Amino acid sequence: IRCQVAIVGAGPAGLTLAHMLHLQGIDTVVVERQSETHVRARVRAGVVEQTTVDLLTEIGLADRLHREALVHNGFYVRFDRRTHHLDFHRHLDRHAYVYGQTELVADLIDARRDTGRPLFFDATDVAVHDIDTDHPRVEFTEAGVHRRVRADFVAGCDGFHGICRQVVDSSRFRVMDRTYPFAWLGILAHTTPVTDEGMYCAHPDGLSVHSMRGAHLTRQYLQVPADTDLAAWTDDRIWAELRRRSAADDHPELETGEIIERSLAPLRSVVTDPMQQGALFLLGDAAHIVPPTGAKGLNLAISDACVLSHALGAFYAHADRTGLETYSSTALPRVWQAQAFSWNLTTTLHRLGDDDFDWEIRRARLQRWTTSADEERALGEVYLGLPFPTPW
Ligand code: FAD
Ligand code: DHB
Repeated sequence: IRCQVAIVGAGPAGLTLAHMLHLQGIDTVVVERQSETHVRARVRAGVVEQTTVDLLTEIGLADRLHREALVHNGFYVRFDRRTHHLDFHRHLDRHAYVYGQTELVADLIDARRDTGRPLFFDATDVAVHDIDTDHPRVEFTEAGVHRRVRADFVAGCDGFHGICRQVVDSSRFRVMDRTYPFAWLGILAHTTPVTDEGMYCAHPDGLSVHSMRGAHLTRQYLQVPADTDLAAWTDDRIWAELRRRSAADDHPELETGEIIERSLAPLRSVVTDPMQQGALFLLGDAAHIVPPTGAKGLNLAISDACVLSHALGAFYAHADRTGLETYSSTALPRVWQAQAFSWNLTTTLHRLGDDDFDWEIRRARLQRWTTSADEERALGEVYLGLPFPTPW
């Protein structure tokens, strides 16, 4: 198969890029390792920035989102058994949208199907070759048939455990990272949310997060040690811990109910600099990981797709390579802003040790967040989405 851009991975980054290139008449092939059923069922993030929604609206992919998403002004923070609302909307006139990544990916797959352009699921032995030439290729096997995609460029949108970040020459890259000694145990449950917008509870024993996907569907997370065995957490134990960490004097107790999904996600921060080598560009989780605190991962994947799509558009329309050459330096400052924000939230909201000094510093920061209008506005600027990088 011959195409202009071969896209590895059908997550938010790959599918958004595919659509933005399609709108510019650029021909792509998308290759995904998992089955369509698996990709459509994967429960992950759920908070979509205003900036991301604006882009999705502009490219015609937000119709269902506008009908079904929950529209939030900010989030709640609870500590010392009291609940505080951070209202970002009142400063910025923008919102955050709660819309499951699962729903967004379903919309993106449907949009891809409507274009009639190729999207291969269940690809095995996916390999990328010749990235240092101007005729790279992606090879894979699908339904017993070996396929070779010849392209001008390859977009590595295959996440942190994909192959694209492995084919680059590591001596030419800086990989900067932090791992945290904890993970998030996440559940999806048939219960009514305790607050009308998401809530982070900074309990001395650890964070709990109370988010939602609908009027009677909640998504909640518990900070747990990194080496946690999910099997050791019964439903009763999960509810007891969520209730303990979210106990407050100004709200009723958390409702408990049927847990329909559970998973464990490690916390880490990683940035790969640059995000490109030769004809290969890395996007989203393939290039960087943020800890889930602050819900930036999905949004960053889409902002990378936006940057690369403009760069490829300029290349095909005017033979202008500037955007391609500056892809990393254009995308990385926004990536670092998201890293700094996620780091701030992660270190403020999680229990890091049993040191009283730590807890008092965290409480002091939480008091600033909840009493200073300037601080509230500053958090809101990033939470609701910084502007996407402007083309070079
Ligand atoms: P992905 O969504 O990971 O998509 C990559 C795609 O590439 C996948 O479909 C994968 O199957 C495919 N792929 C992998 N290897 C290959 C290969 N060799 N060949 C072909 N295809 C391949 N963010 C939040 O903001 N909040 C959260 O609560 C949250 N929870 C998360 C929970 C988990 C378990 C994980 C893994 C991530 C979570 N994230 C969360 C992060 C967020 O979901 C990601 O940042 C986002 O999915 C990134 O999009 P992406 O397109 O870059 O990568
Ligand atoms: C959700 C995810 C997050 O990472 C977060 O910080 C808050 C909410 C969610 O899945 O709704």
